[in-house]
Amino acid sequence: MYCPVPPPLCPSQAALCPLTAASPVTFCRGSSLPAFCCPLIPCATSSSSPARPGLFRALPLSSQAPPLHAQTPPLHARCCQCHPLPQPCRHPLVSFALRMLGSVWKAGPRALGPPMSGGLRGYCARAGQQQGLIFRQLFEPVSATYTYLLADQATKEAVLIDPVLEKAPRDAKLVKDLGLNLLYAANTHCHADHITGSGVLKRMLPGCKSVISKDSGARADLHIQEGHVIKFGKFALETRSTPGHTDGCLTYVLQDHSMAFTGDALLIRGCGRTDFQQGCPQTLYQSVHSKIFSLPDHCLLYPAHDYTGQSVTSVKEEKQLNPRLTKTLEEFVKIMNGLNLPKPAQIDIAVPANLKCGIQDP
Ligand SMILES: [Fe+2]
Repeated sequence: MYCPVPPPLCPSQAALCPLTAASPVTFCRGSSLPAFCCPLIPCATSSSSPARPGLFRALPLSSQAPPLHAQTPPLHARCCQCHPLPQPCRHPLVSFALRMLGSVWKAGPRALGPPMSGGLRGYCARAGQQQGLIFRQLFEPVSATYTYLLADQATKEAVLIDPVLEKAPRDAKLVKDLGLNLLYAANTHCHADHITGSGVLKRMLPGCKSVISKDSGARADLHIQEGHVIKFGKFALETRSTPGHTDGCLTYVLQDHSMAFTGDALLIRGCGRTDFQQGCPQTLYQSVHSKIFSLPDHCLLYPAHDYTGQSVTSVKEEKQLNPRLTKTLEEFVKIMNGLNLPKPAQIDIAVPANLKCGIQDP
């Protein structure tokens, strides 16, 4: 599929882009909308056509890159990119698109049960952006690690959570491209499966400070613990201590409790292992139940890893569906002690390096 759209056939097609609310956009033609959830993708991402600024193409769900909020089908209705197309528009395809999107939009809350506090806003980074929050979920495929960029759109102050050494150039470029001022490269814990990018990013982006838990035993510019607040512009991340996977595990919670970054303490339908690095299943169970499951149901949870292609979950989902943490403490301990997982491939390199904020850190 490509962008076949010549200059607007219908003057009403030219409108404000629903994704950026700024750039003029022309809508693509030639596809039936029911197969789409997030139908507008910048042409620049198309491999079959040259980039054409201002044009957007439609993609079927099956060929979309993992969106920020890839979820099971019912949650597609809450995808941040499912914006109603701008009004007014008289083109038949766009009119049809409006009707279909409207149907999906309305069906979303019913599919998930009663509206939760926060409603659609709680599920939607796009809504966050409307509040002035820039949010990007980045991925490193070898260790299946997620890195998160959060920034204040107004002040440009930014925080990176769990950067990966090999992706530091990508992250630094993104920070520069967006004109951001990276204040902190914060780790959720001393990782065993990859080397942190904190040390390298400090060199690439002078002024950036590395952050890790005081209990991790790792070197960093800023050692934090329960209750510490990391501010960036008008936003802030609250620190919750969630040990059990390691002693120094932290969960970072956005101040309005709409999203939290759980590291390896809680994964999507899983949790971090507890068989090395001071791991303790009893402690992890208490941490998750007291510090993460106590957040509002609608709070989005972003883990440090996912190995199944999922990108986000919520407190409500994990309280209902996590196959380990919905068990009793005794059952959880038995499960964790019986995992018999192989040793992480990079542990002998990664842990010593991460204790020094990444191998490149002086
Ligand atoms: Fe870990």
